[in-house]
Amino acid sequence: MSKKIKKILFKKNKKKIVCLTAYSKNIAKILDKYCDIILVGDSMANVLYGMKDTNQITIQNIIQHSISVKKGVKKSLLVIDMPRNACRNLKQAKKNAKLVIKKTKCDAVKVESNNKNFDIIRGLSKSNIPVMGHIGYTPQFKKKFKVEGKNKLEEQRLIKEAKLIQQAGAFSIVLECVTPNVAKKITKMLKIPTIGIGSSIFCDGQILVTDDLLGLSGFYPKFVKRYINLNSVIDKAVKKYSKEIKTKVFPNKKNFLYGK
Ligand code: KIV
Repeated sequence: MSKKIKKILFKKNKKKIVCLTAYSKNIAKILDKYCDIILVGDSMANVLYGMKDTNQITIQNIIQHSISVKKGVKKSLLVIDMPRNACRNLKQAKKNAKLVIKKTKCDAVKVESNNKNFDIIRGLSKSNIPVMGHIGYTPQFKKKFKVEGKNKLEEQRLIKEAKLIQQAGAFSIVLECVTPNVAKKITKMLKIPTIGIGSSIFCDGQILVTDDLLGLSGFYPKFVKRYINLNSVIDKAVKKYSKEIKTKVFPNKKNFLYGK
């Protein structure tokens, strides 16, 4: 097990684990100073490419962005999302996960659970490919958004799913839009850290999509805290640039490379 993974496991019950998504080097470089984990999420399908769901993103798209992100990452654990179409069975998952690791030098991959694909997590883990699991609202498999764990049946299903993912060898697990009560129970039961998104304070760590937190994506459900409105900051800057070109304020002599 790598030192970086050990460090994440060690934080369980001691320190909160800070995670964010990145799709490019410049953002990753900033996140790397403050995050334990940086995830190249398949959320890039909606957030960056304007696709209608995450199943349209390809392993090549993910690799391309991950190569860029890796250039900005020095200390954080770099996790890469496996798209559904690259992870349909163990043979395909192994081939693609190995390709991702070879091309990007990432530390781990994330596999969304459909409550059946435990053999994929087990097979990857046995091949020394560290896996982060993902349960609750899993966009690759669930078309309609729903908070998970609201009744006893769902609670039992989620707890069983989380335990099976741990048994299969995952080193951590994302809980997406799971009720606080169930997130608390799963976090207490598991030895591996839980990373919450829309799943309350009771998880071992938290993750958000960076474009949401920065106010760039236009997607701000209740579980997202928008720390800045970058859309409006960029809007103001570009508006000023446009005005200064038209009024011949930019470029001025200070910007000339040669002569007057
Ligand atoms: O794709 C993604 O960005 C994710 C996070 C929201 C956990 O899976």
